[in-house]
Amino acid sequence: MEQEAVRTLNRDIVTCTLCRLSLTRINAVPGEGPVPSRLLFIGEAPGRYEDLTGRPFIGRAGAVLEELLSSIGLERSCVFITSIIKCRPPENRIPRKDEIAACAGYLDRQIDLLSPEIIVPMGRLASEQVFSHFGITCGPIGSIHGKVFHTETPRGRIVIIPVYHPAAMTHNPPLKDAVFQDFRNIGTLLERGERSGRNTPGLDKRSILE
Ligand code: URA
Repeated sequence: MEQEAVRTLNRDIVTCTLCRLSLTRINAVPGEGPVPSRLLFIGEAPGRYEDLTGRPFIGRAGAVLEELLSSIGLERSCVFITSIIKCRPPENRIPRKDEIAACAGYLDRQIDLLSPEIIVPMGRLASEQVFSHFGITCGPIGSIHGKVFHTETPRGRIVIIPVYHPAAMTHNPPLKDAVFQDFRNIGTLLERGERSGRNTPGLDKRSILE
C-alpha cells in the first residue's frame, strides 16, 4: 500500500512544475530506498550526476555518504536517501527559500509514507526543513550536529539526528572528524537499539539490515 502511494508520489515529483527548477532540470530526483524505511537520510539538493540520472547521492557527495554509512556498518540500499528539494539548482547554487517551500509537501509526504524511526537531516538547510516539519526550533548546524532529538508523532516516536552534510568534509577537510563522529553517533543509536516507542522490535543494526 505504501509502495503504491510512493509510486504516485514519485510520479508527482517527476512531473512537478511548481517552481523554476522544473525548467532547467534534466531529471527530478525523488529519492530511493526501502519502503517503509526505518532510517531516512535527507540531503540538500541534487547535483549534476543526480540530475543526469534521477538518482540521489551518486556523485562525489554520494561516495562520501557511502563511506560514512559503511563506517557504521550500513549499506546505502538499507536506508532511504532523498533531499529537501528534488531538482538540481543551476550551477549547484544554494536552493532558494521559495524553491524549498514549493518542494516541502513532497518531503512531508515521504516522511509520512516511509514512517521512519530515525531521520538524519544532512546539513543546515535539511535540518531546518526537518525541524520545521515537526514544529521544533532548529539551532545552528554547528551546535545541533550529532545530537539526538525526539519527537512524538501520531505514528510513534521519531528520533532526529542532524549531521553535517557529507560534502562539508570535502569542502572543509577539518570537518572530517566531526562528520565521522556524527555518523558514529548514529551507529551508537543503532547499537543501543534505541526504542521508537512503537510496538515494533527495537531498532538495531541487525533489524535495519534484515
Ligand atoms: N547532495 C545532496 O544533498 N543531494 C543529492 O542528491 C546529491 C548531493
